[in-house]
Amino acid sequence: MHPLLLAIAAATAASAKLVLFLPLNETAGTQATDYSGNNRHGRYINTPALQGRNGTRLDGVDGCIQLPNDLMRNQYTLSASIEVLIRTEQSGNYFVFGLGNAGSNGYGNGYVFVTGDPVLRGAITPSTYDNEAEVRTGSALARNVWTTLTFVVDSTAQGGGRLTLYQDGRSLGGRTNNAAIVAPGSIGTGSTSSNYIGRSTFKADKYLAGSVRNFRLWDHALSAAEVATLVPPTQAPGTGGGGGDSGTSAEDRITAALLALNIPNVDAIRGNIVLPTVSNGIPINWSSSQPEVISTNGTVIRYDQDVLVALTATANFDGASGQRTFFAMVLRAGA
Ligand SMILES: *[C@@H]1O[C@H](CO)[C@@H](O)[C@H](O)[C@H]1NC(C)=O
Ligand SMILES: *[C@@H]1O[C@H](CO)[C@@H](O)[C@H](O)[C@H]1NC(C)=O
Ligand SMILES: *[C@@H]1O[C@H](CO)[C@@H](O)[C@H](O)[C@H]1NC(C)=O
Ligand SMILES: *[C@@H]1O[C@H](CO)[C@@H](O)[C@H](O)[C@H]1NC(C)=O
Repeated sequence: MHPLLLAIAAATAASAKLVLFLPLNETAGTQATDYSGNNRHGRYINTPALQGRNGTRLDGVDGCIQLPNDLMRNQYTLSASIEVLIRTEQSGNYFVFGLGNAGSNGYGNGYVFVTGDPVLRGAITPSTYDNEAEVRTGSALARNVWTTLTFVVDSTAQGGGRLTLYQDGRSLGGRTNNAAIVAPGSIGTGSTSSNYIGRSTFKADKYLAGSVRNFRLWDHALSAAEVATLVPPTQAPGTGGGGGDSGTSAEDRITAALLALNIPNVDAIRGNIVLPTVSNGIPINWSSSQPEVISTNGTVIRYDQDVLVALTATANFDGASGQRTFFAMVLRAGA
């Protein structure tokens, strides 16, 4: 099938089981309108900046978006997806989004969530943090760049269930610990009242300092092909899809420069690679989570096992800065 038709078919299949879809593109008011047809509107709390197609800007202090109660009732599987841009002032522990309950002791008490720090990860727990079944990556979410995060929970998959975290349609892997993957609908026996974008179920946590848009929740586990259709043609403002208004600010130029970067065969690296030092005329600096495997000059050394390396490009332009991380799989020697 033509890739576009495939994308449309997948999107149609996915929307059949949409629980809610908040574009978060209002410009006024307190209602975050649900476009799924299910009337599950959210509520803007503490007057975040509503910026239309640029999404909703949360201040990191007390702004957030409250979602309706009991969103996961009866669900054995779920997928949640959001476009987010984290700002440099973000610190501490925080949730990009979380569905669950806040305990009277100030701890989260049963929840599903995704965070970008201290490393990008997604998790589900029937109780609190020590029972989180999680997908944990090796690095924090880059600042000042739009990215699409999708978390898929399938408690019914063989072998104790499956968790998959995607960034911009690329799987970052499955569960990284042995904690049990419970049915999302078992949390609070279906009753959940701490469902937020930008606010944690833990009282001591920070709020999100960043922008969000296009939050979607499904009652089933999306396939990788379906997840790929969620990523806007480009995450850059002014380029259509989930993009925002056009503009040529330093932030936009940085975003475009980072998006133009490409590492061929990033999933299966067998030799030295080229890490461009300039993109769209903007200088790029690279860092590597494991320079002994991939050096920032592109030198690759293969070991006797596959190694996943996070390569982060930093672009600085006109006083602004942005980052993009690639996950590069260096295949074991001989593979
Ligand atoms: C918000 O997004 C929805 C769904 O894409 C669209 O139908 C609506 O027109 C948008 N509203 C604004 C103000 O852009
Ligand atoms: C969206 O952002 C662009 C710059 O990136 C700006 O020019 C435009 O005014 C913004 N639109 C809204 C509705 O805030
Ligand atoms: C980027 O790298 C150049 C040289 O390669 C260096 O002069 C510059 O300070 C670096 N910038 C940052 C922000 O790391
Ligand atoms: C690349 O970097 C590694 C260490 O980071 C160094 O050993 C090697 O000589 C460098 N290669 C080139 C071509 O600069």
